[in-house]
Amino acid sequence: MTPAATPATPPQISTHTPNAPLLAPYQAVRAASLALAAPLSPEDMMVQSCTEASPVKWHLAHTSWFFETFVLSEFLPAYKPFHPDFHWLFNSYYNALGEMPEKKLRASFSRPPLNEILAYRTHVDAAISRLLSAAPEYPANAEAARRIRLGLEHEQQHQELIATDIKHALFTNPLHPAYLAPSVNPPSETIAPPVEWIEFPAGLAKIGFDTAAAPDDSFAFDNEAPRHTVYLSAFALASRPVTCAEYLAFMDDNGYTRPELWLSEGWTAMREQQWQAPLYWQRTPVTHSGWRIYTLHGWQPLDDLSETPVCHLSFFEADAFARWAARDTPGARLPTEFEWEHAAASANPEAGTSNLLESAALHPTPASSVAGLQQIFGDVWEWTSYGYTGYPGYRPLPGALGEYNGKFMSSQVILRGGSCVTPATHIRATYRNFFPPATRWQFSGLRLAKDVSK
Ligand SMILES: [Fe+2]
Repeated sequence: MTPAATPATPPQISTHTPNAPLLAPYQAVRAASLALAAPLSPEDMMVQSCTEASPVKWHLAHTSWFFETFVLSEFLPAYKPFHPDFHWLFNSYYNALGEMPEKKLRASFSRPPLNEILAYRTHVDAAISRLLSAAPEYPANAEAARRIRLGLEHEQQHQELIATDIKHALFTNPLHPAYLAPSVNPPSETIAPPVEWIEFPAGLAKIGFDTAAAPDDSFAFDNEAPRHTVYLSAFALASRPVTCAEYLAFMDDNGYTRPELWLSEGWTAMREQQWQAPLYWQRTPVTHSGWRIYTLHGWQPLDDLSETPVCHLSFFEADAFARWAARDTPGARLPTEFEWEHAAASANPEAGTSNLLESAALHPTPASSVAGLQQIFGDVWEWTSYGYTGYPGYRPLPGALGEYNGKFMSSQVILRGGSCVTPATHIRATYRNFFPPATRWQFSGLRLAKDVSK
């Protein structure tokens, strides 16, 4: 890995004091992964139902591998790896560390058995505990603390993947079992408020994570920095994401058969994959709307979810919807990622009120009637119009960890804001998620922006 030629700020995860109390956050994050897996059988945890997904069992092992590889093997003296083959078996994509099994083979990992994976987690947890408990300064190396923090954020990313991957896995099962039993609460009768357009004047905006000014206990990935200045033309952002009812209007207006609404690559993907609705929508004669939607709580009538933000859209579908919306809202389009971040930073929403993983809804919920920007964090990842690339002056982390984010900076599109299965401590205004534009298995939706002539 090449260090920055003239690094004004070291290109790294934000600084973290060596004595920071990491053990409690470590234990909490590790326990949260097991809690997500608790409703599942060992057989559930073997399924890999699409190319994007991995078995839950693999997620539980790979997140432990991350700590073993990047923390314990380097920073805990006399650390003994749990198993001589795990260093390559559970490597995901770090080519600098050597060969690894093809991703599509993860469903073949009936061995090692689940009990051994759980023992692997316990082994790693005990070693991390030893490392963090070494008196008087733990860990001795600040870099180890930074790596542990990175490992926790990494595990939180995989927690979101556990939820989205098992949703796809159970949906693929002909019985369509629910991940959790449906809520005993009656469906919400909340009506999403009309869209309010929040205007932002033209001007310079600061974008990205400010590594130098951030508190010691803060964190950001390398791809969120350096902070830099951009010029934004005047724009307006919708106060809430697009709802299922609004998306159904696009479908009913032949949105999926009108070539003028689609990007060329999107038109091809839509026809090849026969998209006629968001992923997990299925026609049924027994609901008023004629549709039902598979959720982590099983099937629900669209009638009960029509006011919730639409999700499981590809970038192409989100973009086509925005073009269709421009018919009634001149200038309607997807926001740029800079517009989104500028608005989110000024909105300063309370994370505690957001529908993130900890709210346990496991599905987007309707916006409230509170004025101003809503649902910036949580509910659905919001597609932006920007491709994923490095900010000016971006440098990946040194070593094999440089493969974490930087090598994916081609042919992917930025999403912002987190979803209903993103852990609350994992999301922030500068966070940049990215997926290929045809991706649908994440909780991905959209919020409209529009030009403002001023
Ligand atoms: Fe990973």
